[in-house]
Amino acid sequence: MLLTHLETCHLTEPIGYLLDPPVFSWTVTKTQAKKQAWARVEVAKDPALTQIVFDTGPRADVSSLGTAAEMATEPNTRYFWRVTVQGDNGEQASAASFFETGKRDTPWRGRWIKAPFAPSVHPYLRKSFMVPGPVVSARLNICGLGLYEAEINGQPVGEDVLAPFYNDYNLWIQFQTYDVTGLVHEGQNAIGAMLGNGWYRGRFGFGNSPDCLYGNDLQLLSELVVQTADGQTVTVATDSSWLCAPGPILAGNIYDGEVFDARLAIDDWSEPSCARDDFVPAIIADPPAGALSERLSPPLTIAERWTQATLVRTPKGEQVIDFGQEMTGWVTFPCALPSGAKVKLSFGEILQDGCFYNENLRTAKQEFCYISDGKCRQVRPHFTYYGFRYMKVEGIETVDPSQFTALVIHSAIRRTGTLETSNAKLNRLILNAEWGQRGNFLDVPTDCPQRDERMGWTGDAQVYCATASFNRCTPAFYRKYLHDMHLEQQQLSGNVPHVVPDAISLALRKMGRDPGHSHAGSCAWADAATVIPWTMYLFYGDKTLLAQQYANMRAWTEYLLRDDDAHGSPRLRTWGFHFADWLALDNPDKGSSFGGSDETYIASAYYFLSATLTAKAARVLGKKTDADRYDALADQIRAAMRQEYFTPTGRLAVPTQTGLALALALNIAPPVHRSRLVADLKVRLDKRKIHLDTGFVGTYFLCAALAENGLADYAYTLLFNEDFPSWLYEVNLGATTIWERWNSVLPDGRVSDTGMNSLNHYAYGAIVEWMYRYMAGIQPVESAPGFKRLRIHPLTDPRLTHVQAAYDAAAGLIRSGWQRTEGDVRYNVKIPFDCEAEFQLAGPVKTAAINGVPSDALARGETVMLAAGLHEIVAVG
Ligand code: BGC
Repeated sequence: MLLTHLETCHLTEPIGYLLDPPVFSWTVTKTQAKKQAWARVEVAKDPALTQIVFDTGPRADVSSLGTAAEMATEPNTRYFWRVTVQGDNGEQASAASFFETGKRDTPWRGRWIKAPFAPSVHPYLRKSFMVPGPVVSARLNICGLGLYEAEINGQPVGEDVLAPFYNDYNLWIQFQTYDVTGLVHEGQNAIGAMLGNGWYRGRFGFGNSPDCLYGNDLQLLSELVVQTADGQTVTVATDSSWLCAPGPILAGNIYDGEVFDARLAIDDWSEPSCARDDFVPAIIADPPAGALSERLSPPLTIAERWTQATLVRTPKGEQVIDFGQEMTGWVTFPCALPSGAKVKLSFGEILQDGCFYNENLRTAKQEFCYISDGKCRQVRPHFTYYGFRYMKVEGIETVDPSQFTALVIHSAIRRTGTLETSNAKLNRLILNAEWGQRGNFLDVPTDCPQRDERMGWTGDAQVYCATASFNRCTPAFYRKYLHDMHLEQQQLSGNVPHVVPDAISLALRKMGRDPGHSHAGSCAWADAATVIPWTMYLFYGDKTLLAQQYANMRAWTEYLLRDDDAHGSPRLRTWGFHFADWLALDNPDKGSSFGGSDETYIASAYYFLSATLTAKAARVLGKKTDADRYDALADQIRAAMRQEYFTPTGRLAVPTQTGLALALALNIAPPVHRSRLVADLKVRLDKRKIHLDTGFVGTYFLCAALAENGLADYAYTLLFNEDFPSWLYEVNLGATTIWERWNSVLPDGRVSDTGMNSLNHYAYGAIVEWMYRYMAGIQPVESAPGFKRLRIHPLTDPRLTHVQAAYDAAAGLIRSGWQRTEGDVRYNVKIPFDCEAEFQLAGPVKTAAINGVPSDALARGETVMLAAGLHEIVAVG
């Protein structure tokens, strides 16, 4: 038996995070045991675990999905924890990990400081200090606004980039804590930071958005605490004894990129040897508006160094590097041009007529301008990022592509899912969705990484969160996003803005316009407040997390209810602004981005969904009064919808693909009329020669509704279509991520003139969830979330010969695959330790066997239970 993935609040060995309370999780592998007999978690203050401060004792109900330590923790303290698990066959294993608490309420020794320069100057700030003996430990608590990069003795601190990340800095500000023991030494040392605009002070918040959205000054707060072997403590905190000099960054923001003049670079700015006499003292700055807090953001790091690059010489004579993959991050290269020589890099997603193109970025410039100082330097941007596949290089006579490395940046959350099929184009589609996720998980789940938006659009986040959670381990990532969301909800009486953090409203206010409530409350967008928490619970089964995120759910559902009552309690949402089936193709007005399905029907359906999910969460959390209240509300909404939208004979008044799919998938349709709706949906699709009409909402539900209602072959046809509109149409046109629109690129390779076209928008990538759930058949089960109990119900299709999924679920590694040979289909299934699966074939077959033992029940199409372990199922006929 082996215990792996030991995590605290879904983070590996977190230091200085908000962990209230610490919640421990792990997985068990390499065991013959089927079930857990008991598990035990012990927490201590020493690595040998002798000074135990918390102990669950050996208990059957200690859960690997999340065991909260209801214990008081002290600030700045490392706690060691050990988990021991015993299986039902007596096998036992232990493993240990740690977490370290942050500063909490201990007062900061440092003060916010800034440089006494013109606001446009991006400063270096530094301080040298003595350490009088060998170092045994050093911790740095630090925050810089807008963004900072810190160094100690010439070495970067930690692996994060773009710290302190992105949230509404008026509502809270995350500082970071790093273990810098290895960077500080006895004798003379130096610490320093570079500051840049980022989201805080650069232009941000849509289109022609203003500068200084969150603040006016670049400023730093830092506190280094060093312990020496002889028991001395050295504290180096920001104050007016820090020294500043103008830095090499002349301009920069998230959308436009950066201008870096190496002639202003000071090579040893963070080293004790720095002997420049033109540094001037820092001045004390006003603290920013938001309250300082330990971080929730998981690490944001350079996840991959991408070296595949080819040079394209375009018909216009441009030198363009093709990285072969759309990604998000920076590019680095060595530069040894003469002093004053300029290099300009421009980033784009697609070529047009073989030439560089970036008009689809709208106002975002996405450039990096570098001015050489004549020295050979490894160059990279610092306080911006780019979404790109292509990069135009100007200022280098002959570009050698092998000199350019793309640095792929995203939130560092571990990969959990792989899915492979016998169809190469489907495999590319799966990869495109994964790249879309990587490109849009930059601390906030963004809509796109390249044009003048890059914001946390709630609708996109909501439809994609289950796919994201098959691909990667997401609870820490969404925990931070839902925290941001809840803070916004507190400002809006429970309502949810279209983007979180709500940069749009802030930008409008800055420009003297009152956003009112017009930037919040759209159906399917605002419902992220219920859908994401419930998805987290289904996928990870962590009740502590659900209890925290129940605040989002309840606040939004209560808002909906109050709004409804204010309109006379129709239990329908027939008012307000809604994106609804955004970008669907069935609007008679082809120039509109809104879909053709009645938005008030979609809004009412989501009202029903939010009430339902909030009721379910309340029930899980033992909040009976709430559960009854929201169940009753959901019943009333459904009854009102049945009256308003269904004729007595079952005709749906919104007979679009999206309308019908929603009625089926959300169980809104009166049960007696279900089969009629299925038939109507089939006719609808037949009329479109089985092609999509759907947008952000309908696309999410359509294939699931088909698969659940005996029309899996129709879902597969939609998936296999290669002509417009379809997923593989994009793949055939060379997409390496998911496009925003079905027709973002026309068959001749031209970007369509629809005015809004990102080639890296993951919303339609949510089809990958369908592939895991229906093709591989891996489904979470509500009564035992976190995949402790799962349903495996693969729907095979003759157009595929094999499918293989591996999913490192919260409960452990699940495999589900199938292989078609002549006459039979062989399924291989792996169920993790202490889990069980309901296995069901797609339909009745002549004969079936599990691990060589014939099973009539399986052959009849019934569900059979599978215990932990490997299983081979053969179905014939
Ligand atoms: C964004 C989205 C978003 C939408 C709202 C777009 O500009 O890029 O993906 O959800 O607006 O309708």
